Amino acid sequence: MTHKLYAPFSLADLKLPNRVVMAPMTRNRAAAGNVPTAMNAEYYRQRATAGLIITEATQVSADGIGYPATPGIHSDEQVKGWRQVNDAVHGAGGHIFVQLWYCGRISHPSLLEGKTPVAPSAIRPEGEAVTMQGMQAFVEPRALETDEIPGIVEQYRQAAKQAKAAGFDGIEVHAANGYLIDQFLRDGSNKRSDQYGGSVENRMRLLNEVLDAVCEEWPANRVGVRLTPENSFNSMSDSDPVKHFSYFISQLNQRKLCYMHILEGDMMTQKRTLDYRALRDRYKGVYMANQGYNKERAEQSIDQKDADLIAIGVPYLANPDLVERLKTGAELNSPDQATFYGGDEKGYTDYPLLS
Ligand code: PHB
Repeated sequence: MTHKLYAPFSLADLKLPNRVVMAPMTRNRAAAGNVPTAMNAEYYRQRATAGLIITEATQVSADGIGYPATPGIHSDEQVKGWRQVNDAVHGAGGHIFVQLWYCGRISHPSLLEGKTPVAPSAIRPEGEAVTMQGMQAFVEPRALETDEIPGIVEQYRQAAKQAKAAGFDGIEVHAANGYLIDQFLRDGSNKRSDQYGGSVENRMRLLNEVLDAVCEEWPANRVGVRLTPENSFNSMSDSDPVKHFSYFISQLNQRKLCYMHILEGDMMTQKRTLDYRALRDRYKGVYMANQGYNKERAEQSIDQKDADLIAIGVPYLANPDLVERLKTGAELNSPDQATFYGGDEKGYTDYPLLS
């Protein structure tokens, strides 16, 4: 009998053929102007048997950039590029959401025409930015003025609108992994004293305003959100993730969003210390789990109702027919680390299919 992981699932009004999601993965292969290409369209088309594809993180504006050759969704050329991707995925019967991104302090002046990256507070992250000139130490970001924040929210709204024009099926608000919204959510990076800092209510204000704005462009049931309660990636920390994220989730419950997507654990240490079942039970909608899922864990999570959807990253980049391989227990292609970020078709669109 077919396992439930490989059986249809109703995600709001979308009929997904299965519960396996292609997780968002940065691949740094956009063309000049951060425009998606025919090669990007082919990469996503090859993976269209996923229940749902979530694109690589995509900047909402030129100010949101944080890495070389990552796509945007603010220029007409970018929208045209994404339309090519979406036509390819839809032509192959797939579903695709775009992940909306603003990097904040994880960027570098060389990517921002010399401007200093912005953040909730002027706290320099540990580590190095990826720039056109190679790795460079992160700089101390500039704390956003209170009256600049509506402009950032407006950039998300505009990007959500562009996502519709580009033909996406929905959007995912990237509120994870140490990028701007997450920098506001977690108290290690947010030391503000205005209405965007301090209490959980205030730290969540930016995410709430972004969700209000994008939900004016999309029905809430086509808007997902991604959170990372305990990821230390990008120099992040929080004094009480269970308490704080329990509040954030209780707020999300009021919105009837498409799904909540959680990267469970810490990408840096591979440790997973929080009780994700408890967070899942607190959430009243569709729960998408991610981080280190293989066939066995994915099937077991669905059986135990620990998750509704399973997002898989790295194995998906190396296996365009991942759903078929998991379903049949076939061997998986090994991912080639050297070609993860940047380059051409090699390690991108040339991973072999089973047959
Ligand atoms: C990365 O480029 O390393 C990256 C981008 C977005 C994420 C995580 C990692 O959410």
